Amino acid sequence: MILIKNGRVMDPKTKRDEITDVVIENGTISVIGKQDEEQAYERIIDADGCIVAPGLIDVHVHFRDPGLTHKEDIQTGSRAAAAGGFTTVVCMANTKPTIDNVDTLKELLARAKKLPIKMLQASAVTKGLKGEELVDFHAMKEAGAAGFTDDGIPLMDVSILKKAMELAKECDLPISLHEEDPAFIDEPGVNQGAVSKQLGYGGASHLAEDVMVARDLMIAMETGAAVDIQHISSGISVDLVRFAREHGADVVAEASPHHFSLTEEAVLKHGTLARMNPPLRTEHDRQKIIEGLQDGTITIIATDHAPHSVEEKVQPLGKAPSGIIGLETALALGITNLVKKGYLSMMDLLEKMTINPANLYRLEQGSIEEGKPADLVIFCEDESFVVDHFYSKASNSPFIGETLYGTIKYTICDGKVVFEN
Ligand code: DOR
Ligand code: ZN
Repeated sequence: MILIKNGRVMDPKTKRDEITDVVIENGTISVIGKQDEEQAYERIIDADGCIVAPGLIDVHVHFRDPGLTHKEDIQTGSRAAAAGGFTTVVCMANTKPTIDNVDTLKELLARAKKLPIKMLQASAVTKGLKGEELVDFHAMKEAGAAGFTDDGIPLMDVSILKKAMELAKECDLPISLHEEDPAFIDEPGVNQGAVSKQLGYGGASHLAEDVMVARDLMIAMETGAAVDIQHISSGISVDLVRFAREHGADVVAEASPHHFSLTEEAVLKHGTLARMNPPLRTEHDRQKIIEGLQDGTITIIATDHAPHSVEEKVQPLGKAPSGIIGLETALALGITNLVKKGYLSMMDLLEKMTINPANLYRLEQGSIEEGKPADLVIFCEDESFVVDHFYSKASNSPFIGETLYGTIKYTICDGKVVFEN
């Protein structure tokens, strides 16, 4: 038995927000409430001055396993997740080989069972992410796929996309979409605008996202599928998602910490460490994303944790791969740039990192309730730290050297302490 004493227990599902104790027994939360007896516990964690929240859930990470493990693997990825307060992650399918068949999926999930956190795996939508031939949706679900996505690559063929949405709906699993039409991308990873002009770089227009989001929301409305618009970056796309949700579409959108924290200007300072797909855009777009987070249009914060090696990222802007790591800075960026700035309450931030992602993937975790798995994060919102080391194998982050609020003290998964600081 573990006793967590005197923490501010915040649960976005039940809206509980009180200073109390939590008892963990056999991996589950057995009691929430003040405890007197202290002797019987194998461990007592003093959470005085800290927030005790459900373990964070990230529906968008790249652990690069199998095949790209010079960037990350499921062990190092999980360590990074635990260090960032995450107890559940959903891995994307753009590995080598692609997660588009039952054997590869099963082999990976068997290895994932031994990890300190809960690693779920999405299936690709199409074989080899080529956008041509659909995977066997029902077989992949049967083998344990958490959802479906060709993340990294847009699905250009609308008839394939519509069929994929219908199959995802049949499986009662979400389908997540990377929205970038190559027709409006001269060079990827940097917004087409003032900064790309200054750098003489082709850039990717917001139109690339907007046309695909508009198209896919219409298909989502028609099919009724649970559709997740990944890493939304354009203000117009936020408005489009709002429209579709108002019209009853079963659509959610993810915002990544970098898209609510940074603008295209970051490319001038950080070079390839600010190159990602879709790119960082203008201050206007950033404000529209924050508005979307505030009014409930954007219900999920997801990192798009995209590790790359130093050798890959030191290449010129046009050659380096897109993406940055995010697991170890996500909560702190939310606290520093959303909560401390007065845009979101702490409860709203936690909702977008726990129960909302759990609901999208139909997971039992994501709340603090008696009888539920003891997946918890304990953090101190007013304690700052400097971003200067990572548990991830990679360190491709534009936030290195920044001082952020929100130090993680403990991460607990199924009742076990998997990270402490
Ligand atoms: O910047 C990105 N990197 N965006 C994606 O969608 C994929 C990711 C990756 O796999 O590196
Ligand atoms: Zn993506």
